[in-house]
Amino acid sequence: MLKTFSLAVALLSVQLVAVGQTAEPFDAGAKVFRLDGGGVTYVFGVNPKGELQQIYWGGRLGAADRFEQAQVKPEWASFDNSYNNTPQEYAGWGGGLFAEPALKVTFADGNRDLVLHYESHAVVPGGLDVVLKDIGREMYVTLHYRMDAETGILVRWATIENREAQAVTVEQAAAAAWSLPAGKYTLNYLTGRWAGEWTLNQEPVLGGARVIESRRGTTGHQANPWFALQVGESDENHGEVWFGALGWSGSWRITVEKDQLDAVRVTGGFNPFDFGVVLKPDEKLETPIFYGGYAKDGLGGASRVLHSFELKEILPHAPGKTLPRPRPVIYNSWEATEMNVTEAGQEALAEKAAALGVDRFVMDDGWFGQRKTDHAGLGDWYVNQEKFPHGLKPLIDKVHGLGMDFGLWVEPEMVNPDSDLYRKHPEWVLNFAGRPRTEQRNQLVLNLARADVREYVFGFLDKLLTENDIAFLKWDYNRNWSEPGWDQLPAAEQKKVYVEFTRNLYGILAELRQKHPGVEIESCSGGGGRVDLGIMRYVDEVWPSDNTDPFDRLGMQDGFTYAYTPQIMMAWVTDSPHWLNHRTTSLEYRMLSSMQGSLGIGADISKWTAEEAATAKRLIAAYHQAQATIVQGDLYRLIAPREGSAFSATETVRADKGGAVVFAFIHSTQEGRGFPLLKLKGLDAAAEYALTAIEGKAKAGTPARASGAWWMNHGLEMDEEFRGDFRGAGFRLERQ
Ligand code: DGJ
Repeated sequence: MLKTFSLAVALLSVQLVAVGQTAEPFDAGAKVFRLDGGGVTYVFGVNPKGELQQIYWGGRLGAADRFEQAQVKPEWASFDNSYNNTPQEYAGWGGGLFAEPALKVTFADGNRDLVLHYESHAVVPGGLDVVLKDIGREMYVTLHYRMDAETGILVRWATIENREAQAVTVEQAAAAAWSLPAGKYTLNYLTGRWAGEWTLNQEPVLGGARVIESRRGTTGHQANPWFALQVGESDENHGEVWFGALGWSGSWRITVEKDQLDAVRVTGGFNPFDFGVVLKPDEKLETPIFYGGYAKDGLGGASRVLHSFELKEILPHAPGKTLPRPRPVIYNSWEATEMNVTEAGQEALAEKAAALGVDRFVMDDGWFGQRKTDHAGLGDWYVNQEKFPHGLKPLIDKVHGLGMDFGLWVEPEMVNPDSDLYRKHPEWVLNFAGRPRTEQRNQLVLNLARADVREYVFGFLDKLLTENDIAFLKWDYNRNWSEPGWDQLPAAEQKKVYVEFTRNLYGILAELRQKHPGVEIESCSGGGGRVDLGIMRYVDEVWPSDNTDPFDRLGMQDGFTYAYTPQIMMAWVTDSPHWLNHRTTSLEYRMLSSMQGSLGIGADISKWTAEEAATAKRLIAAYHQAQATIVQGDLYRLIAPREGSAFSATETVRADKGGAVVFAFIHSTQEGRGFPLLKLKGLDAAAEYALTAIEGKAKAGTPARASGAWWMNHGLEMDEEFRGDFRGAGFRLERQ
């Protein structure tokens, strides 16, 4: 029987059509493969030894341009042979490889040498499948390449197949390796912690390897599977950038290496730490997807390309639509009530929320089982009778009657030891037999890799969605793995939990979406612990951080948008002073900060004054009008809120250049310095744009309408009075 450890559902990327391809994808004479898309060309080929090596990745070349056959790099004295020095597309560990291998296996007889050579290829819709084979053993790897015609983002993954007569253990498996042209590079990557996600790190690529990874069984707050490499003087707006993002929500690793000959390569996929998948004869292992892109116009250009790709090719769409719909403005009760949810309390909040113009009311944690604190209840997904004596229906009906739809919090992969589920099935959690089960937030992780756990989780969610009119699930995940044993399996097979858990998660999400097509889902993991291009194929939005402080959020939102579109970046307005930093800010500032992403309200609105409610209502209405531009337009980071900047500003421009939205924020005015002149970007120079204020004022004398050239060259000046601490302003420009 042929068994595939593969991603559970059809890959959206496979549907890409290579309409961007102008050159032949294979030059048989030179044994060169070529893929074109957007402004990008990617070329690789078979060298005389039979290895598959990268030849070119950069700006789009002429359709008639041709390459000679790839040539191996010479050895470097007797210490580094040509296999090591040649930019392999997907190197097996063996043959004297010291660079990061893409694949490492142990055969049944103890042989660990794997040298992959070109075997065959197929031109498929949107790209190529290239088959490599070990020089001796029946070990095959199919490298999948799909080029997005519009953005030039290359979609790469691998399928590893054992056709030996005995089992093989895969100990390391990357999705792809990317080689870059020689140069002086700066590496950008995102790190963080709970309540402090999305810090952009920028550092020179020096000799050796920089590893960014998660060993946590999930994507993690601590590092995110995205990188961007800038060459030379490249900055936010100028210069070449190569970037990539892994689509995987389990343990992952990206290694950026500059080797002894100054070659730079990036290898990423499953984290090899504690990894091991036994492939029996004829079994296959499919890796996660590694997406790679190139831009000529700096980090800003790279993120615009990536956002566009995510919107069009990654995020779920309604049938017939090319873009996901902008997110409903939500109200979420978490910061107002925490777990003290009741029918009357939620209904009162719903009335207040509806009056503000909110579209969706979301009840957070606390509605189920014996959930009074975080010590109990996870796993028992029945409605708590004390809090909701008549079930959820009265609340849902009330919310609908107020003109909103209804969303609910769940944390499906977790269990509290104090729960009926755990008492019944203590064997369902990740653990090593006879060893402690480390709790975090008093909870354990269900082993979703198990078929019965998968069935249970799908079953309760399906029932919940079938029995209640629920439009949205906030899917939370509040701890990382420990003791990740699967003690029902033979010892050698237990490590496949790293693959099967995530595969089952994706499978459940896909099945739920199929069976309940109207339901939307948010990926939350105590904030931004599970944000990546893998989960994004199944969810509509993410929760970037539990930290809702509006000033901290400006920095996080800046970092977040290097990798991810503002469309999915939920941002709630919460109470002031803020619970985390004890910072006091105006409601206008908080609203504007959250309006940079997908707006939500998370404050205790039962305590708001009539004036506060009126301000929120006015700004929610303004947001509704500008939302599509803000979350789906081309984002320009005019002034980044980094390195202690006193100011920050962003601009988003609709794809048709028909309109733009500008946000400006002051952290702290110092020495009487006014807000810097904002030279806008991305407008149509010849078109006329009218300026209207969402909040704040432009400088006296600013024209009510002017050309795109004016706004881009002369610039937008702020009112002289726009000074102080924690102040914000927002403007719209509409083409006339
Ligand atoms: C963590 C989430 O990030 C919060 O928004 C909230 O849903 C809590 N979990 C509930 O336990």
